[in-house]
Amino acid sequence: MRRTSALRALVRETRLAPSDLILPLFVVPGEGVENEVASMPGVFQQSVDRAAEAACRARDAGVTSVLLFGVPESKDARGSDAYQEEGVVQRAVAAMKRVAPDLVVITDVCLCEYTDHGHCGVLHGEEVANDETLELLAREALSHAQAGADMVAPSDMMDGRVGAIRSRLDENGFESLPIMSYAAKYCSGFYGPFRDAAESAPSFGDRTSYQMDPANSDEALREVKLDIEEGADIVMVKPALPYLDVLRRVKDRFGYPTAAYQVSVEYAMIKVACERGWLDEDRVVHESLTAIKRAGADFIITYFAGAVAEGLS
Ligand code: PBG
Repeated sequence: MRRTSALRALVRETRLAPSDLILPLFVVPGEGVENEVASMPGVFQQSVDRAAEAACRARDAGVTSVLLFGVPESKDARGSDAYQEEGVVQRAVAAMKRVAPDLVVITDVCLCEYTDHGHCGVLHGEEVANDETLELLAREALSHAQAGADMVAPSDMMDGRVGAIRSRLDENGFESLPIMSYAAKYCSGFYGPFRDAAESAPSFGDRTSYQMDPANSDEALREVKLDIEEGADIVMVKPALPYLDVLRRVKDRFGYPTAAYQVSVEYAMIKVACERGWLDEDRVVHESLTAIKRAGADFIITYFAGAVAEGLS
């Protein structure tokens, strides 16, 4: 059954479609701004107008969803720009819904892009204060909903944030707004280039107190279970390729809509090796995304979304 490509297609178990892919976008203040991220060739920080154009291009290729990250004008200890009505993400959501009403616009809910210390929550001394952070995350999620977001995606990894966000949304008339939770998010060395793009590297210490230990997978099941109990509609495993076993366990155990995030280093590794002529980009990207789906992901957040969708369509 492998003799011809038609036979192979007939018995293929896993297929990729443009609608499996979610495109992340980094939105910055200003107009006409497009800065390529040095460690992520082909990925840009973009002002609202340019990000909206990029979203439309992706949509034309069949990508149905985008995930927005904001890089604000100014940062402070409590990440105040994260929950401003006129914040960069809030404006981007509105612009995208205007030019592409059918596009699923998802927003990342976290404080690390907005705090001057780069941690995902507020600090008490050098510790992240979990419970005090919940209020700010709930406020941020609500302001994204009010701006018109179709879904919110908390990536901060504070305990209890899905529940806090769910009740804040419900109390304000957003009962039907879904939550995609970064449920099993590891404290990973694979996020470096993202932190260049989002300008969110912690100014001291690391994220070991709130993100998961790469050695654990039973713990991933507990994290996912808690998020589902608190009201998550989609659960995510992140990074993707180094955690395929976790993805499979999560999918088998819960049978929930499951997302995987092919993160910035997964992207950069492929790009850099391609620049050196060491691998065939199309082939390796397809193989990676197929592996991620085969392992249990229903859809994938990937910086390759636009290019792959154009190829597929
Ligand atoms: C914010 C966040 C991170 C990523 C997504 N949301 C970085 C981090 O936890 O430091 C990483 C994504 C990537 O590497 O592509 N909390």
